[in-house]
Amino acid sequence: MKKSFDKGFVAPHPVFIIATYDENGEPNAMNAAWAGQAGPNQITISLSPHNTTDNIKRNMEFTVGYATVDTVAACDYVGMVSKNKVPNKLEVCGLTTTKSERVNAPIINELPVSIECKVVKIEEEFGENRVVAEIVGAVADESVLTEGKVDFGKVPLITFDTVSLCYREVGDSVGGAWGAGKKFLG
Ligand SMILES: Cc1cc2nc3c(=O)[nH]c(=O)nc-3n(C[C@H](O)[C@H](O)[C@H](O)COP(=O)(O)O)c2cc1C
Repeated sequence: MKKSFDKGFVAPHPVFIIATYDENGEPNAMNAAWAGQAGPNQITISLSPHNTTDNIKRNMEFTVGYATVDTVAACDYVGMVSKNKVPNKLEVCGLTTTKSERVNAPIINELPVSIECKVVKIEEEFGENRVVAEIVGAVADESVLTEGKVDFGKVPLITFDTVSLCYREVGDSVGGAWGAGKKFLG
């Protein structure tokens, strides 16, 4: 038997940590769950008005770091507090940054993998800013590489559970893509 619900949900959700520079060139970061990949090289993010939203509109560039088990408290905190109210919010939660070489945005040092993004368009829809951005590069800690490629088996990624309102650890590989299904091919 299945139970039917009137409200749906998407799972698993990514935990994007968007990093930007504010109007004074100071780094900021926020947590964004209403986000995902759209096509091979683009992402979309749905943003309400935030310090980060203003920064993205001004700079048209940002990075996205992937939240991890080790950084869960800091990644949650940057989603709870605005830089408009707590100007040193990154310092408070122990996050540090280095400027990206590809875009005018900070990379969060404590997050092992980040992508660098340039805005393609921002549409205001349903009171939200729908940001579409091109992924122009990525940076990753040497410690999470295997044979020169990012190895997500070495990155303790977390996902956002929108039903229980908690973060869950992403687990091990359970089968190859375009591989596990081969046993059903003729
Ligand atoms: C789990 C989680 C997910 C969130 N997802 C989004 C989101 O997708 N879009 C959004 O506009 N705000 C989202 N927020 C809220 C912002 O991260 C939050 O308002 C943040 O304090 C904005 O910071 P800023 O004003 O310094 O940019 C989320 C917060 C949390 C904790």
